[in-house]
Amino acid sequence: MRAAPFRGVIACANLKGGVGKSTIAVSLAAALAERGREVLLFDADQQRTSALWAERGRLPMAVRAHPWRAESVAADWRAEIAAAGATGIAVIDCPPSLEGATQAAVMLADLVLVPVTPSGADLFATQRALELVRAARAVRQGAPRVVLVPSRVDTRTAVGRELAAALGDFGEPVAPAIGLRTKFVDCFTTGDWVGGFAPGSTAAAEIQRLTTSILEMLDGHPTEENA
Ligand SMILES: Nc1ncnc2c1ncn2[C@@H]1O[C@H](COP(=O)(O)OP(=O)(O)O)[C@@H](O)[C@H]1O
Ligand SMILES: [Mg+2]
Repeated sequence: MRAAPFRGVIACANLKGGVGKSTIAVSLAAALAERGREVLLFDADQQRTSALWAERGRLPMAVRAHPWRAESVAADWRAEIAAAGATGIAVIDCPPSLEGATQAAVMLADLVLVPVTPSGADLFATQRALELVRAARAVRQGAPRVVLVPSRVDTRTAVGRELAAALGDFGEPVAPAIGLRTKFVDCFTTGDWVGGFAPGSTAAAEIQRLTTSILEMLDGHPTEENA
């Protein structure tokens, strides 16, 4: 039997800035779009990283900027994301915070990706993100799922090599790692995603591997809420 293609909401969130939330959200959304999925990326961060990334028109999916301004836009924002998730895949690039937009995103999401870099402080931030996810699960029949994504991993260092094992201790799934690679920085400058900018690169291969693992997890496995 063929698995039903996933439709729903994926949020990319972490308390910390600079961990690769926007890079992973844009790359994943683009890879999903290239695989024929209907994808809309929501930039919920006032820094507008993914909205700026999209400005040159080289990304294979549309990006909507919805910086969180408390109550005023919250209801519209939720409705728009829910509508996009009902017809295809909505990816939310969250701000570096576990409040406001991120809280709303975690309440809407089927899956929360938490990028984690190899530093001690990041493990603390990861714990906080998981607490937010578990609070949502308490009121949402077990949703959302969560995946920890080792991000900006320098495999030349011991701490980089050991990150995936350290993340396993949180008791949640750990995705294939995204390395610390200049291609991720350079592609942002050109407005392309890494699979368009450097299709044969290790960086692009890592994004494809991440995308495959996420789809394997989601396709044919609707969350209880959406079943
Ligand atoms: N895997 C990576 N390798 C190298 N640089 C990266 C990687 N991921 C992100 N960066 C760079 O780190 C900075 C912060 O990344 P970004 O995705 O904007 O993080 P966040 O959204 O969590 O603040 C950017 O300059 C980006 O190009
Ligand atoms: Mg960002």
